[in-house]
Amino acid sequence: MEKITVRLQNRQSDIIVGECLNHLDEYLKKRITFIITDRNVNEIYRERFPDCYVYVAEPGEKSKDITVVADICRWLLENGADRSSFLVGIGGGVVCDLAGFVASVFMRGINFGFVATSLLAQVDAAIGGKNGVDLDGYKNIIGTFTQPEFVICDIDLLMTLPEKEYVNGMAEIIKHALIQDFDQFVHFEEFSVPIMAREINKLEHMVAHSAKIKASVVEKDELEHGERRKLNLGHTWGHAIEKVTGLSHGESVAIGMAFSANLSVKKGLLQEHERERILNLLTSFDLPVKNPADPPDVFDVLLKDKKKEGGSVHFILMKGIGNVVVEPIDIMELKKFALYGD
Ligand SMILES: NC(=O)c1ccc[n+]([C@@H]2O[C@H](COP(=O)([O-])OP(=O)(O)OC[C@H]3O[C@@H](n4cnc5c(N)ncnc54)[C@H](O)[C@@H]3O)[C@@H](O)[C@H]2O)c1
Ligand SMILES: [Zn+2]
Repeated sequence: MEKITVRLQNRQSDIIVGECLNHLDEYLKKRITFIITDRNVNEIYRERFPDCYVYVAEPGEKSKDITVVADICRWLLENGADRSSFLVGIGGGVVCDLAGFVASVFMRGINFGFVATSLLAQVDAAIGGKNGVDLDGYKNIIGTFTQPEFVICDIDLLMTLPEKEYVNGMAEIIKHALIQDFDQFVHFEEFSVPIMAREINKLEHMVAHSAKIKASVVEKDELEHGERRKLNLGHTWGHAIEKVTGLSHGESVAIGMAFSANLSVKKGLLQEHERERILNLLTSFDLPVKNPADPPDVFDVLLKDKKKEGGSVHFILMKGIGNVVVEPIDIMELKKFALYGD
């Protein structure tokens, strides 16, 4: 078991990797607790939940909706919740984002914690205090920065995660290594097979390591004014790919990271042999590296997403493996590269 403490201005947040869902009760400190989960997680793990009120949301992104927030707030009131009540989200990133947002607005904010059940939630979504819901197709457009008291990452729960969701999490884990950990990158090159086979002795170390990287970036820049932007590696191009192709988030981000590697080579920041290593690693984790859509379509969506940034886009480029830089790139330059590779 490993405890990672994220220290921020107003409070600290403990991420406990290797802790067990069965011990959640100990973290509740006898407070009246309300649990938010989704139907899939509820079906598999309900009997291991402590004895609390439980709200079961529908699985999937559609639950990140303001009407669901209102429904949960109503349910909290009906069951006598007040400012001293405690909220726990038990689920993947959707449940964590939803529960974190509800906790941050219900009665102007109540304390909360997470049991992160997906790989993506354990290394990414549950860490860093960002939460939110979607509106009219805009993702995470209503939200706050509010830190959970604790995040429990029970590695055993990952064994029931669908393969596609596991690979989704792997994309963000590889992203973290590319941002600031060359040794971890090399470790993944060596151990892709046992990691993909979810060998438990490899996973705890991997999750703890990756969570630590996210936590360290967030500590430096909680409110995303600079350093935290690095976490967007692969996401500018990736989000556009996701919208155009309907590929999963992880697959799209992998294609986005390959795009960033290509652009970094063109700009002389990354060596050709390093680019190849990155593409090979992504492939060995069953992640795609080639854009299956028409580049002009992807570029149009990117442009729409980034209109508010003006004539340039903050792009995350790779300066070698395990190091990134945030660079403003002129939109026309990006277009030329996206469409003609030039
Ligand atoms: N707040 C942040 O900083 C942040 C960062 C990254 C992503 N996110 C958000 O996270 C969300 C995606 O999270 P996700 O990929 O975890 O998706 P998710 O929460 O939808 O979970 C994926 C699927 O796996 C199921 N599942 C979860 N844990 C399981 C388990 N242990 N066993 C079996 N099934 C399980 C869920 O029911 C769901 O069907 C997006 O909405 C994204 O915006 C937030
Ligand atoms: Zn992502």
